[in-house]
Amino acid sequence: MKVVSVVGARPQFIKCAPISRELRKNSEEIVIHTGQHYDINLSQSFFDELQIPNPDYNLGVGSGAHGYQTGAMIKFIEDILLIVNPDVVIVCGDTNSTLSGALAAPKLRIPLAHIEAGLRSYNKDMPEEINRVLTDHCSDFLFCPTETAVSNLKKENIYQGVYLVGDVMYDALLHNIDLAQKSNILEQMHLEPRTYVLATLHRASNTDNSDSLKRIITGLSQVDNKVVFPVHPRTRKALEMFGISPGENILVTEPVGYLDFLKLESQAAAIVTDSGGIQKEAYLLCIPCITVREETEWVETVEDGWNVLVGTDTDLIIRTVLEFRPDRGRRQLFGNGTASRKIVQILEEYFKK
Ligand code: UD1
Ligand code: UDP
Repeated sequence: MKVVSVVGARPQFIKCAPISRELRKNSEEIVIHTGQHYDINLSQSFFDELQIPNPDYNLGVGSGAHGYQTGAMIKFIEDILLIVNPDVVIVCGDTNSTLSGALAAPKLRIPLAHIEAGLRSYNKDMPEEINRVLTDHCSDFLFCPTETAVSNLKKENIYQGVYLVGDVMYDALLHNIDLAQKSNILEQMHLEPRTYVLATLHRASNTDNSDSLKRIITGLSQVDNKVVFPVHPRTRKALEMFGISPGENILVTEPVGYLDFLKLESQAAAIVTDSGGIQKEAYLLCIPCITVREETEWVETVEDGWNVLVGTDTDLIIRTVLEFRPDRGRRQLFGNGTASRKIVQILEEYFKK
């Protein structure tokens, strides 16, 4: 089987690592990096640390408005697909890089596989929601991480090509957690386990609105704990533009590598985030998660009592960090760590020559 994988943003490098590992046992993989993320600590460091083969093509599209970014990616991906002529194109997640692959492949009548299919926030203010819906409706293979994702697709009359396989981010976590425990990031940052809060922010709805961003940063600045805050470049720019300064209890850092981040997550007292992937990792690592959004795609983590949605309410953020101590059992929501193997088996069986 000859596969083209399209990646471009931080979480996609993490998701593609276990898939690449499985694919390269028996199949040929050609990786297209759109260049959506280009800072070393959002891109190359993941290829190095996770030992992902370097991309065969880097489109260097970079940042820009949605139309520019997606359009430029589609154009270049189409050119490459015409040359490579793969059996199938794989996209994952819900970024503009995902959508660009999802629009380029089907128009050339190349089968499309979507990893992390069926996720919905039902909030079209999120660009990611548009990307997910369109990608799913263009896909021939829809690999769902959860039962909720399968039932979301049914509501949109998508039944064919749907497979419940589990979550590839769980595969990645299992593969790396032992190595991550060897990280000395806590010592480097002078942190004691279970005393600090780990925070990340990058959703446009939080960063592009000065009131929302101010409310969240004020909340984080007033909690009793030290807060470790690896800042996404979108957020750094917004903080500077709006003149918002994090409080003295906040340890502001550059984004950190995956292994260091897993270590920081696993030893945190609580996590405050608007990230999709981090909500899942918090659940998998048994860490209370406080999500600064009004809704989530990962509804099961909330139903199970390990994730709570607080929006951007300053007082609620402070109170929840102080009081939220879940102790309920957890389910195997995200499969058993074999999602990547299942995905590759299904595709290889289908494209058996
Ligand atoms: C993107 C995805 C989001 C995903 C996130 C993962 C879309 C619409 N959004 O959001 O779904 O959760 O990646 O982190 O696809 N920038 C840099 N250096 C970089 C990359 C970006 O400085 O290497 C800055 C630029 O100012 C850019 C801004 O960050 O304009 C936003 O980058 P962009 O890729 O558009 O969206 P993300 O917020 O990263
Ligand atoms: N992550 C990381 N370093 C950081 C912040 C996050 O390695 O400084 C990892 C994290 O462990 C998770 C993924 O990046 O696997 C989540 O990506 P992000 O929050 O950028 O995107 P989302 O999941 O919201 O699409």
